Amino acid sequence: MSSIITSIGICHPAKEIKNSYFEDFLDTSDQWIRERTGIERRFFALENEFTSDLCVGAVQSLSENYNKELGDIDFVIVATTTPDQTVPSVASQVQNKLNIKQAGCIDISAACGGFVYGIILAKGLIAAKTHRKVLVIGAETLSKVTDFSDRSSCILFGDGAGAVIVEASEHNGIFNALTDTDGSYGKELYLSNRALYLNDEKIVADNKLHQNGRVVFKWAVSTLVKKIRELLSVNNTDLQDIDFLIPHSANIRILEAVCKELDFPIDRCMESIRQYGNTSAASIPIAWYNGIKNGKIKPKDNLLLIGFGGGMTCAGICLRNEIDIR
Ligand code: ACO
Repeated sequence: MSSIITSIGICHPAKEIKNSYFEDFLDTSDQWIRERTGIERRFFALENEFTSDLCVGAVQSLSENYNKELGDIDFVIVATTTPDQTVPSVASQVQNKLNIKQAGCIDISAACGGFVYGIILAKGLIAAKTHRKVLVIGAETLSKVTDFSDRSSCILFGDGAGAVIVEASEHNGIFNALTDTDGSYGKELYLSNRALYLNDEKIVADNKLHQNGRVVFKWAVSTLVKKIRELLSVNNTDLQDIDFLIPHSANIRILEAVCKELDFPIDRCMESIRQYGNTSAASIPIAWYNGIKNGKIKPKDNLLLIGFGGGMTCAGICLRNEIDIR
């Protein structure tokens, strides 16, 4: 059975955080943040606002352009590194809040690669004919696990969510995928609330996100270039046939370096970093949604989505955009 993506929606908290916010308590500046990351602002959840709330908001946004039932969704996948709690899953909270009865529910942990992993799993469930309509959400409240004393990381992260519906279809709109992980990079990017050992080293856990920015940056550029080429190859296609590239938005300079290396026009690379910061699992659907909303991405455009992040994980997929929400 083939599958297509029929609808998309996004959500972010109302509280807007400009770069100048950090100037009050850190040795940083709006100029440094814009020049080194591309970020102009991000949104932070309130104390009583959680990842599951943003997921519900993204589904409500999705339902504005989806004219069919949501009640027959038979599986919910939430990709997140910032679940409301470990158990119950965010997916089961979403199922309950949206009253989607009898749906299977799981959270997946693949950091910023999570949304693409979710689409790959949804496509697999539909191909196996066990499910017909899968809700895939990438959602984060990274502000709750940000170390605000670390100026090189705290300026990066933002909160948000993006949701899509993957449905069984007579014609195929989701093509070949690839997944990859390099676990040896574990301690370059981690988040834990318990004592942990990474690469045989004991690490003091404080429930904050820690990363070695320079190492992650270099890994991201070389991995993205290599994996995009591999993904094109497994799809028997080349970059000329891709209308829009949608990589995880971690830093505008990563996207610029990748486009330069691939000789791909930067204006056909969709990003969400400038207006939302790094929203991890939510960054790709937010960039996709806004690309459609502002009239750039049109129905039948070929997209290449590629996520990467803590793990270090990487996942990419080629698909055809079927959505029009302008
Ligand atoms: N304001 C001012 N100066 C700063 C700031 C800041 N906010 N942060 C760092 N600096 C300083 C450093 O201290 C350093 O000063 P020094 O030269 O005196 O030592 C200088 O700026 C350069 O530091 P770098 O670390 O080399 O800065 P870089 O240009 O690499 O930018 C950044 C840092 C933004 C973190 C970048 O490395 C990056 O984006 N890395 C990738 C992040 C990423 O992709 N994360 C993956 C996803 S996250 C996830 O999975 C949830």
